[in-house]
Amino acid sequence: MTETTDSQRPNQQQVQDWNGALGERWTTNQDSLDALLQPYGDATLMAARLQPGERVIDIGCGCGATTLAAAATVGRGGAALGVDVSAIMLERARERAHNTANPARFAEADASIAMLEGGPFDAMISRFGVMFFEHPTAAFSNLIKMLRPGGRLAFVCWRAMAENIWMTLPLDAARPALPPVAPSIPDAPGPFAFARRERVANILADAGFSEIEITPQDVMMTLAAGASPAEAAALAVTRSVQMGPLAAALRDQPAEARTAALALVQAKLESVATPSGVVLPAATWIVTARKATP
Ligand SMILES: C[S@@+](CC[C@H](N)C(=O)[O-])C[C@H]1O[C@@H](n2cnc3c(N)ncnc32)[C@H](O)[C@@H]1O
Repeated sequence: MTETTDSQRPNQQQVQDWNGALGERWTTNQDSLDALLQPYGDATLMAARLQPGERVIDIGCGCGATTLAAAATVGRGGAALGVDVSAIMLERARERAHNTANPARFAEADASIAMLEGGPFDAMISRFGVMFFEHPTAAFSNLIKMLRPGGRLAFVCWRAMAENIWMTLPLDAARPALPPVAPSIPDAPGPFAFARRERVANILADAGFSEIEITPQDVMMTLAAGASPAEAAALAVTRSVQMGPLAAALRDQPAEARTAALALVQAKLESVATPSGVVLPAATWIVTARKATP
């Protein structure tokens, strides 16, 4: 991996967050989050069309679910390398690979500036791991260098928060118990940075990608199932505070406000629960692109 000086290091806030409470929350709740996000990883892997023997990088791999799945597809004749800035999440990823004798490997690095060993790679994948770059065009200009000519990119990212009812419904229910929640800054690094299709297309084109396809994927997300609406809602509340804007809004709130907010969320989610559980619309883009052959 190439060395960088301090003045070249972007994304320091993200590095701090994902090595702090945010990364800890994702690691502690890894099983639950993986269950929730599995359909998105599956869709990404399908879009990447990985073949046995290929070499693949998983950008922002976190606790490694999609890297492990990619390694199982490319096999021991290929290579799957997960890259992430979060030491705690990578520790969990390595532990999982070790426990299952999975050949996936992991590197702690900022994907926007790292030049990872073992390339050129046939493909790059990411499940919700590419929306956090301070300088996205520079980041993808760096990433494309690690692909072979003809190499593929496939990732999933959230569309606008307003289209993701599984996130807005719990947040809106909690609002009366919380101080005003600051609206997110459009395009800022974070879960919704790639909400605008045109922006994603421009970033990838400016970085040198071709054959860019950005396809909406609308899924009814099962936030939680349960024996009764109350039980499903209780689990859905737990999940709502594991990731997403409600989790962020509750951070640093006093216990009293948290308790009041969670009671409102429980009531709301119970009111929308069906016999199948708490099932709400979720909206993503599935993005694919290619590095042109000369
Ligand atoms: C929303 S989580 C997704 C994690 C994982 N892909 C999953 O689906 O479970 C975003 C991940 O991106 C990682 N990340 C953020 N900025 C990064 C960067 N510049 N380079 C590498 N990883 C980054 C975070 O540490 C975090 O693990």
